[in-house]
Amino acid sequence: MRLDGKVAVVTGACGGIGREIVARFVEEGASVVAADLNHTQVEELAGGFDQRVRGFSVDVTDFTQVEAMINAATEWFGTLDVMINNAGIGLPKPLLEHDPVADFDPVTTVNQKGVYHGILAAGRKLQALGKPGVILNTSSIYGQMAAEMTFTYNVSKAAVDMMTKCAALELAPLGIRVVAVAPGRVDTPMLRQYEELGLWEHIRREQMRNEFTQPREIADVFAFLASGDANCINGSTVYAEDGFVNFKYPLAPQG
Ligand SMILES: NC(=O)c1ccc[n+]([C@@H]2O[C@H](COP(=O)([O-])OP(=O)(O)OC[C@H]3O[C@@H](n4cnc5c(N)ncnc54)[C@H](O)[C@@H]3O)[C@@H](O)[C@H]2O)c1
Repeated sequence: MRLDGKVAVVTGACGGIGREIVARFVEEGASVVAADLNHTQVEELAGGFDQRVRGFSVDVTDFTQVEAMINAATEWFGTLDVMINNAGIGLPKPLLEHDPVADFDPVTTVNQKGVYHGILAAGRKLQALGKPGVILNTSSIYGQMAAEMTFTYNVSKAAVDMMTKCAALELAPLGIRVVAVAPGRVDTPMLRQYEELGLWEHIRREQMRNEFTQPREIADVFAFLASGDANCINGSTVYAEDGFVNFKYPLAPQG
């Protein structure tokens, strides 16, 4: 097992990708603090595992709560090895229809500031513990690609990529790696917003495999990056997107 005895904190743990990260990390031998907004949901999620998973309700936009989450991890499991800043939201809307507050602030506050809070709280804790660690941030292909209707989301994910690089540089002397994962289109509740917009089949046909990436496949990448197998990867954004950034459309007509 690649994460035997490691302690990880995962935000957005009740979402499509977060749930699979929690499960995958447990399979690899880790203990996990599964953190998300809703207290009942995190307790239900943790209840599906043994005592190696504890639920914690957190709003990542509040630094005090993020610090409390990190402290809970070390109180419950004795240490901290891996922080996964995965919580995120998206509110697709054409740019010129934006309300400049409602369509900008919530997305940047969760996706950008929330990741900043996680890097800061986990980095300080690892420094205090005097041990190396790994901080993984969930970015997106949209951190580098322009796309219709996702202006604020893309801006926030570009910030995640840059925060990853800058944090990796400053934390490297402490033996802390910081890496971002950029999924493409993953079949989760977040992506299902496109179903409501009538765009589900359209975006499915843009996928190389003619199907969406599964959350489990993204969790596999997180498990690899958290492990010693990825010791030479630092500051990068790792794409896990079925080739989408290189080949927007399937190579040959399918289904
Ligand atoms: N699904 C995709 O296609 C896709 C693609 C690229 C990147 N991502 C990113 O993956 C991450 C996970 O998304 P997902 O697809 O699993 O979506 P999801 O909506 O299923 O899960 C997101 C989770 O984040 C939680 N969350 C939201 N605001 C929060 C806050 N303030 N504090 C704590 N938790 C909060 C939600 O409650 C939810 O459980 C996000 O950062 C998202 O931007 C998703």
